[in-house]
Amino acid sequence: MDLGLKNKVALVAASSKGLGKAIAWGLAREGTKLVICARHKEVLEKTADDIFLKTGVSVFPLSIDLSESDQIDWLISETFDLFGRVDILVTNAGGPPPGYFQDLQEVDWQKAVDLTLMSVVRLTNAVIPGMRKQKWGRIIHLTSVSVKQPIEGLLLSNVLRPSIVGLTKSLSQELAPHNILVNSVSSGYCMTDRLRELFREKAKSRKTSIDKVTQEFVKEIPLGRIGDPEELANVVVFLASEKASYITGSNIQVDGGFVKGLP
Ligand SMILES: NC(=O)c1ccc[n+]([C@@H]2O[C@H](COP(=O)([O-])OP(=O)(O)OC[C@H]3O[C@@H](n4cnc5c(N)ncnc54)[C@H](OP(=O)(O)O)[C@@H]3O)[C@@H](O)[C@H]2O)c1
Repeated sequence: MDLGLKNKVALVAASSKGLGKAIAWGLAREGTKLVICARHKEVLEKTADDIFLKTGVSVFPLSIDLSESDQIDWLISETFDLFGRVDILVTNAGGPPPGYFQDLQEVDWQKAVDLTLMSVVRLTNAVIPGMRKQKWGRIIHLTSVSVKQPIEGLLLSNVLRPSIVGLTKSLSQELAPHNILVNSVSSGYCMTDRLRELFREKAKSRKTSIDKVTQEFVKEIPLGRIGDPEELANVVVFLASEKASYITGSNIQVDGGFVKGLP
């Protein structure tokens, strides 16, 4: 199936590693030109080099911290200088820190709002005018299954991520007349550095093995395994494509059946 993504321009946020990187790879394989970003320059540049060498698509790594509004302004202006437009925006960021309500200070809330919510608002706001002008756009917000089923000990994620789904639905209504489609994808457990680190920490604190911790998580997943980032990326790539032309305002779970409630 030709997804019609050749020579489109995508900005994929938080994409030097993990889910963002898998999405960048997926789009590049379809011939999409890319801007990728993250804080650590070396890892980011290596990802860009690897993608370019294997796919031949233009990929520009821009090192920024997504919780800083002036750095997002710079990212956007560089992207427009490089390509003159953004056809596809994928929002993503590092997860907010874990913790229960009693552990959190006001400063933690503020930082989490800037990273998890405001980075999405700022990026989205910056690409809409161009998408309206060209009457074509795809905006895909990467979130977590915590939007459907709060996860114990991840209070900031449980509170802030549902706001992204609210934004997705509201924006999809406003932007539909301009042929800009807005959807979100909720990730279940996918094997990335972040999850490896979580398993390592849990194993250490419980004085048990990483294998045992992994098995406990897997027990809760009907498909009986942790997901591969590529399995999530495939859904995002499809939503970014011409073939997803009648899907907007949806939140799609990619979680191996983890969420037990109705979709
Ligand atoms: N993996 C899962 O199972 C899973 C499940 C549900 C939700 N999620 C959520 O999905 C998102 C991505 O997770 P992941 O597993 O792919 O994590 P990961 O493997 O740790 O990758 C995170 C990426 O985000 C970048 N990043 C982090 N903070 C940033 C910042 N302030 N500014 C710019 N870039 C930043 C990182 O690069 P730098 O560190 O260099 O900035 C890296 O490229 C997170 O919000 C996570 O909570 C993941």
